[in-house]
Amino acid sequence: MRVIIVKDTQQMGRVAADLIVQDLKKRAVYVLGLATGSTPLSMYQELIRRHREEGLDFSNVISFNLDEYIGLPANHSESYRRFMNENLFNHININKKLTFVPDGTIKDLCDVEKFCDWYEGQIADVGGVDYQVLGIGTNGHIGFNEPGSSLGSMTRIKTLTERTRLDNARFFDNDINQVPKYSITMGIGTVMKAKKVVLLASGKGKADAVVESCEGAVSSKCPASALQLHQYATYVVDEAAASKLTLEGYEKI
Ligand code: PGA
Repeated sequence: MRVIIVKDTQQMGRVAADLIVQDLKKRAVYVLGLATGSTPLSMYQELIRRHREEGLDFSNVISFNLDEYIGLPANHSESYRRFMNENLFNHININKKLTFVPDGTIKDLCDVEKFCDWYEGQIADVGGVDYQVLGIGTNGHIGFNEPGSSLGSMTRIKTLTERTRLDNARFFDNDINQVPKYSITMGIGTVMKAKKVVLLASGKGKADAVVESCEGAVSSKCPASALQLHQYATYVVDEAAASKLTLEGYEKI
């Protein structure tokens, strides 16, 4: 696994943008897997800047988001569809019809299962994800694959842990009761099928999750540790998030 240690979140955004756009121009269709949360914001800002100032073209991009809360209307301020529109899609020339975010508004459980199969089918139909972007939870989750998730799992419903709901309460008036209890998330198996993966992390609060996932055992206790088995996984982490890494030889820029 390649680990790149950067100075701050701005540099993290630039390095991550470099990675995910390197093949963008070469392909007739380029498929991105995208993430929400605070972490990828600096990368999205950098992509928007490159589009505005350098003409970076997203017209050949299809995107699939990792996850979505169940039960929030699509226009809710914290829905991930809205997050993606406001923080990226509205500012670049991507075809919004080709931006997929799991539908958290479906009520019937059977329909959610059908939706999850459909989502996997859509990803497969376009040839799979070329570059998947990930954040990491303080508990090691990727997407909403909480500790204990099957390492082979595909898109499905997951119950959020109390840890994750507490972490995300900052977006819901600091009230855990407003944080949804369930989500639809790509599985760890879905993520592992992406051709390339980049995981971003910043801040001291992520240091335990970063060291456990990079240097600990591959285990469902730390879902991100599955990336140790990925053929092409890169971590881009700031110095604070990297502060508990112990092995030598990581790239520092
Ligand atoms: P964050 O969330 O980027 O808001 O820290 C990351 C995650 O939970 O995967």
